[in-house]
Amino acid sequence: MSIQKTLSIIKPDATARNLTGIINARFEQAGLRIIAQKRLRITREQVEKFYEIHREKAFYESLCEYMSSGPVVAQVLCGEDAVAKNREIMGATNPANAEVGTIRRDFGESIEHNAVHGSDSLENAEIEIRFFFSQLEIIE
Ligand code: CMP
Repeated sequence: MSIQKTLSIIKPDATARNLTGIINARFEQAGLRIIAQKRLRITREQVEKFYEIHREKAFYESLCEYMSSGPVVAQVLCGEDAVAKNREIMGATNPANAEVGTIRRDFGESIEHNAVHGSDSLENAEIEIRFFFSQLEIIE
């Protein structure tokens, strides 16, 4: 167990439904701290780079179109085992398979419109945090 940082994105389907506060409450209730946060509109080019790892997947085009279609809230979550804990709070990628009480089960609309993104490893968390935030914007 260690104190970690992870990147979270509240996706366009969730910001459109005004769910930022209720999703943030889930993180805080589970003991994660939001130590950086900003609402922004990501350009198509930025999304393509962020999801580079999925470039060959059939859903890549649609995912990039969707993620640049509206505002997102990017945030750094910090706490004990933050990467795994956030994945637990989010639930499975497909809301239909997510445990009851997880963000994606409760708020996700589909595998693409699944309310939130979270880093899948500590290594990727560092890369993804640097993608959105400068050191000066992360207040521990
Ligand atoms: P996320 O955690 O942001 O990482 C990549 C995203 O791709 C994932 O959440 C889903 O929103 C999306 N995704 C994964 N698999 C599929 C799929 N089969 N069809 C459409 N979108 C997908």
